[in-house]
Amino acid sequence: MQLEEGKRVPRHVSIIMDGNGRWAQERGLERVKGHLQGVASVRAALEECADNGVEYLSLYAFSTENWGRPDDEVNYLMQLMFKSIMDELENFMANGVRFMVLGNRASLPDILNDSIDKAMEMTAGNKRITMILFISYSGKWDILQAAKHLAAKAISSGEGESWLVGVGEKDFSSLLVTDGIPDPDLIIRTSGEQRLSNYLLWQGAYSEFYFTKVLWPDFDRAQMKLALEEYGRRDRRYGKVK
Ligand code: IPE
Ligand code: IPE
Ligand code: MG
Repeated sequence: MQLEEGKRVPRHVSIIMDGNGRWAQERGLERVKGHLQGVASVRAALEECADNGVEYLSLYAFSTENWGRPDDEVNYLMQLMFKSIMDELENFMANGVRFMVLGNRASLPDILNDSIDKAMEMTAGNKRITMILFISYSGKWDILQAAKHLAAKAISSGEGESWLVGVGEKDFSSLLVTDGIPDPDLIIRTSGEQRLSNYLLWQGAYSEFYFTKVLWPDFDRAQMKLALEEYGRRDRRYGKVK
């Protein structure tokens, strides 16, 4: 399902996957069944993006705030992420997918961290597309950990405040967990909510936003294609006059 020839393709697409619980509740199922169904949508989005030459697909899988959900749901999500990573490894290798996880890794269960390490090592050389899962991530957490790093560097420079004068936006960006990854060109949010929910606050400064009422488990390749096509019609000005 490729876009028309010559259409502008986003280099980095990022998705706030929302609406799993509502999808399940609408069917009289438990919320977690929506999370399970959502895994198929990840596969569909990945395939559509890869086929259209998107270089990075990132997905907000679990926010810092999501730790506040009931234990059963949190545990289910941790298990599901572990199982999905293990199940998809073969698919990543067959399809040239480089896999990465960004977020507060120290807060994740060991079994999940081990599967992440394994998948990141195995897929490190894959070149077709990079898929990033943001797990235990929030934009404020990211900015705060970068600020702490910066403060530590300023102290160890021995020059204190005068060292800080030379620090620019690029230097700060390089301390965020997304160092080396281009900022998202397009941020998609499903389920009708129109908010960032503490996602890529710094990196999303000039992203295009695409909101759809479709719930994440119903987001298929055709839906992904619609979002890519809409991006192709956007006029990005970055504050300048064209
Ligand atoms: C998104 O679906 C998945 C996560 C946040 C982990 P939700 O679980 O937020 O689904 P709704 O918004 O309650 O329908
Ligand atoms: C945002 O969805 C987080 C993820 C998709 C991982 P939420 O469902 O947690 O966000 P709110 O609570 O509606 O803002
Ligand atoms: Mg939600």
